[in-house]
Amino acid sequence: MATLQLKDVRKSYGSLEVIHGVNLEIADGELVVLVGPSGCGKSTLLRMIAGLERVSAGTVAIGGKVVNEREPKDRDIAMVFQNYALYPHMTVFDNMAYGLRNRRTPREEIEVRVRDAARILELDEYLERTPRQLSGGQRQRVAMGRAIVRKPAVFLFDEPLSNLDAKLRVHMRVEIRRLQQALRTTSVYVTHDQVEAMTLADRLVVMNKGVAEQVGSPVEVYERPATTFVASFIGSPAMNFLPVSVNGESRTLTLRGGQPLTSLDSPSPAQDIIVGIRPEDIHLQPNGQGEAVRLVVGIDLVEVLGADSVLHGRLVGSEDRIMARLPGIHRIRAGESLPLFVAPDRFHYFLQSGRRMAQQ
Ligand SMILES: Nc1ncnc2c1ncn2[C@@H]1O[C@H](COP(=O)(O)OP(=O)(O)OP(=O)(O)O)[C@@H](O)[C@H]1O
Ligand SMILES: [Mg+2]
Repeated sequence: MATLQLKDVRKSYGSLEVIHGVNLEIADGELVVLVGPSGCGKSTLLRMIAGLERVSAGTVAIGGKVVNEREPKDRDIAMVFQNYALYPHMTVFDNMAYGLRNRRTPREEIEVRVRDAARILELDEYLERTPRQLSGGQRQRVAMGRAIVRKPAVFLFDEPLSNLDAKLRVHMRVEIRRLQQALRTTSVYVTHDQVEAMTLADRLVVMNKGVAEQVGSPVEVYERPATTFVASFIGSPAMNFLPVSVNGESRTLTLRGGQPLTSLDSPSPAQDIIVGIRPEDIHLQPNGQGEAVRLVVGIDLVEVLGADSVLHGRLVGSEDRIMARLPGIHRIRAGESLPLFVAPDRFHYFLQSGRRMAQQ
């Protein structure tokens, strides 16, 4: 096991810089998830940790030792990819044993490690099968077994579940979390799926265009997103953003269509700001701490999902769209206008630049 440290890590392809200086300290045994939209640089960062891409500037250290110049095979890491690329003609046992044989591990040791990994992954019954005779989830477990038997200091996962169907993905996500908690191996896990990120991570790194916009526990990132980008990426449906004007020294707030946000004051005077409201913080009745803020919304679509319902609409008097997620089934019809309520402590405040306001 080991710590992992990135110091001002950068990557350029020719004159184009795609990773703009990432700093990150990962504790021994921690599982950190890199999450962000396609093209933000997750795989590039992971591949630099693995040694599959050269670092253009900065340092990568594993277990306190800078490994910039070390070959991937000398970094004591094991990587699991989306495309798990098992050898089709080899049995499950041989697929798992392959790397160890290459390293000239003694036969008895290989036997013990492969059987151990197979037990942990519940693959004991399949050791003599070939990958063709396995389901997608079982194949992905073999790919994980191949990584586990190596007993690396660090596991690196690059979207290992994205080839699986939705149900199996949820199942495997739970298995990976259990496995990582049992083995306590330092891990970096890449995904663009925010639910996967939230449920797996000890800490999240939310990436945007080659920059780590926020690093924190899933709850911290959800409760106090540092930017509108993070706020809109983490949480589903995404956070609502409403431009509001601040009325001078009184600091009272007015929505674009003229609705005042009563019982709410701006954290700072004299700026137009953006308020963020999570759809799940909007209710049909006032509840929570303090006097609730009332929003009048013209509903234009209701999605009934079973466990909850999502209302889509516009703030009356403006074009600003708003979504509300209400628990349970609601028979609200499109075309109705309703007052909806938000507790004042559930508002998020952002500057025009997208930064969270410091006063909160
Ligand atoms: N060999 C390369 N030459 C030039 N640009 C590259 C190269 N490899 C990656 N890039 C660019 O670097 C950026 C980051 O790519 P990367 O593959 O790390 O994204 P990602 O976050 O893993 O995306 P995805 O979710 O689609 O896998 C992208 O803009 C990509 O076009
Ligand atoms: Mg990628």
